[in-house]
Amino acid sequence: MSAHELVLVLDLGAQYTQLIARRVREERVYCEVHPCTISLDEIRAKKPAGLILSGGPGSVYTDRAPTVDPGVFTLGVPVLGICYGQQLMTSALGGEVASSDVREFGHADLTVNAPSPLTEGLPDAFRVWMSHGDKVEKLAPGFVPLASTPDCPLAIVGDTERRLYGLQFHPEVTHSDHGAGLFRNFLRGICGLTGDWEMATFVEEAIAQIREQVGDGRVICGLSGGVDSSVVALLVHRAIGDRLQCIFVDNGLLRKDEVRMVDETFRRHYKIPLTTVRAADRFLTALAGETDPETKRKTIGHIFIDVFREEAERVEGAKFLAQGTLYPDVIESVSAFGGPTAVIKSHHNVGGLPEQLGFDLVEPLRFLFKDEVREVGRVLGLPEQFVMRQPFPGPGLAVRIPTAITADDVAILQDADAILREEIEAAGLERVYWQYFAVLLPVRSVGVMGDNRTYEQAVGLRLIESTDGMTADWGYPPRDVLRKISNRIINEVRGVNRVVLDISSKPPATIEWE
Ligand code: XMP
Repeated sequence: MSAHELVLVLDLGAQYTQLIARRVREERVYCEVHPCTISLDEIRAKKPAGLILSGGPGSVYTDRAPTVDPGVFTLGVPVLGICYGQQLMTSALGGEVASSDVREFGHADLTVNAPSPLTEGLPDAFRVWMSHGDKVEKLAPGFVPLASTPDCPLAIVGDTERRLYGLQFHPEVTHSDHGAGLFRNFLRGICGLTGDWEMATFVEEAIAQIREQVGDGRVICGLSGGVDSSVVALLVHRAIGDRLQCIFVDNGLLRKDEVRMVDETFRRHYKIPLTTVRAADRFLTALAGETDPETKRKTIGHIFIDVFREEAERVEGAKFLAQGTLYPDVIESVSAFGGPTAVIKSHHNVGGLPEQLGFDLVEPLRFLFKDEVREVGRVLGLPEQFVMRQPFPGPGLAVRIPTAITADDVAILQDADAILREEIEAAGLERVYWQYFAVLLPVRSVGVMGDNRTYEQAVGLRLIESTDGMTADWGYPPRDVLRKISNRIINEVRGVNRVVLDISSKPPATIEWE
């Protein structure tokens, strides 16, 4: 990717570091996140047009506080320090940082006191979001105050000559007004970047890279129907055509019509070589009678690997495995104190494939964020229903039937879930929810249908509002939409006589039931 304009985000342990990278990408500038311990030589070799120092929970005056090579301030490259990054820059260049009397957390009213390229075109006053205990007490030589809040006289500081700027607040969070404007001014006005990072260009480059890596070899790709593996399959197919072999494992725990839809889209429409392995029996047999959630998950994981491996071994001469690893899984995490932990989270998109399968990995999405993957999907012409796919757990419907699984119960849940999805989409609410799905409850209750007493199962509706799946609130669609869903499920799905709404947030509940 080195042909692009590049900005480096140096991670000093902030929870918002990835958000900074996403804001930069939104300005169509390619950026990479690196631990703050990256050497000056490595930085130089990457020829960045700008550097951003993230925030972090440390204090610059304590031992083992995360730091950067002070040489970054004399590279002649513009630097933007955010919160802790600003304090670090100040302290490294001869200013002073101290614990502040008032710990500022939340909104603050910012007033711009002096014009600068950083606030060019922005209003004279706007709201920003603060979260800090320390603050800059004395500016480093060459710096001047540019903006203040009532509790923080040095909320923006800068040395225009050396193109070094610092913000005490967090422009990367949406609670700060004009965050995008500040990033744009830094990237365009100060770093002189044009913003040439586009998904269409990414696609061309990714295709060239896949061709180079794979040569005339064959590639296997585990397709799950999710957006990441779908985009990987399309990209690799564009690159090497029928030397790609996709494998889709039907574990019998997928949503209604999923198998047909994936087959139609990828095999028939895109003409991508695709083997669908019908392994429902194998999974259901192994799960029979099992009620423990963790055992269920592990059983499904192990069988998935076995099935996948058996199928992969049939693909003659395949040396490569394409995976939909994304950037958040690749970025090394930095611990709050004492520097980077150098732990790289390993991500396995398709239910969890082990490293030992013995393939070389092809991971064309490893520098992208999820929203960028969706964009690539659109550039490649992937239908919107795949591009905007809800997250779906690897163990599938097994974690939505909180008891031992039977084929009959899976069929009941598939039907109820399909109705819920149809009605949410018919009401135009599909973008409101992060996820919307049904669960089948392991209880029977008494009902009456016509003149007959019934004694049947209950379906729970799970509608989730969330931005990242880490925390979540329950959704409450209009009463008539709920009524329609409930009526249709009870009337159309044999074996169900009751529908309930799950009104549990995460935490303390989780999104899935197991
Ligand atoms: P929980 O239930 O932990 O779910 O609140 C958080 C998000 O993760 C999804 N999920 C999974 N995704 N494999 C996946 O790929 C899994 O095993 C898995 N379990 C949960 C869940 O749907 C929600 O979006």
